[in-house]
Amino acid sequence: MRHVISVHDLTVEVIIDVLDRAEGMLDIARGKAVNDCLKGKVLGSIFFEPSTRTRLSFETAMTRLGGGVIGFAGTEATSVVKGETLADTIRMVSGYADAIVLRHPREGAAKLATEFSSVPIINAGDGAGQHPTQTLLDLFTIRQHMGRLKGLNISLVGDLRYGRTVHSLAFALSKFGNTINLVSPEGLEMPREVVEHLQDSGQFGIACHTPEEVITTTDILYVTRIQKERFPDPVEYKKVAGKYTIDPQLVSQGPAHMIVMHPLPRINEITPEVDAMPQAKYFVQAANGVPVRMALLSMVIGGV
Ligand code: NCD
Repeated sequence: MRHVISVHDLTVEVIIDVLDRAEGMLDIARGKAVNDCLKGKVLGSIFFEPSTRTRLSFETAMTRLGGGVIGFAGTEATSVVKGETLADTIRMVSGYADAIVLRHPREGAAKLATEFSSVPIINAGDGAGQHPTQTLLDLFTIRQHMGRLKGLNISLVGDLRYGRTVHSLAFALSKFGNTINLVSPEGLEMPREVVEHLQDSGQFGIACHTPEEVITTTDILYVTRIQKERFPDPVEYKKVAGKYTIDPQLVSQGPAHMIVMHPLPRINEITPEVDAMPQAKYFVQAANGVPVRMALLSMVIGGV
């Protein structure tokens, strides 16, 4: 495997391979077993946008496999503030590292980076574009709790317009055969190309504006944050902020086996009372970032 830019690069076989390897790495991810298959290797971790889970779980994954990490989180202390281009930054870091994990506010930045890199680029989020490694850990979490990746009714809730995690996840779920419902405030609907893809592949469920309309038939309730930083106009953000909240009353209307996921950070779209419910899986989901990224790094850098 070389660059990981979008879920379109990942076949069903590759996805299953990553998930199976990740399962075999759970003990190493938790520090209960040791594996140093990436000893002596270096990961370049360059984050032009804020991140907690993605950056720290990549760093943990690399460290647990015996490798090292260089990079930056925020550009304040780098030559980017002097005006260095993304192309030059990538050229340079690819001279130091064996792979580069890149997060950038511009859609298409990761793809662009592949043109200047001599090592694999892993997209850790490009603006409102894609977030393929989040999708891998989302799929891992779904399989872990539902035992399968097909024949599920998944409701994607929240900012479907600017949310990159739901763009990647919708495309990936459609590789397996599922029904996907789209629940968003008005103006934050899923981009047309994703909707058309779901319709063409016969996997489009319903599109609506309130989770109440889908809750009773939902297996996976996947909630997202309104992506404040992507709004060109703060007034528009204010109109949709806090539009709906997932609370225990709503969650208990779902089927008994339903699970609630969220890529996090959560602002106010899931009330803290939901955290104690057995359906709440978002912190397990975040922890799954480590074994999944370990599996991915071992394939991309270790070549195993
Ligand atoms: C997401 C992201 O950055 O796209 N976070 C993450 O990687 N877990 C979701 C978000 O910021 O809302």
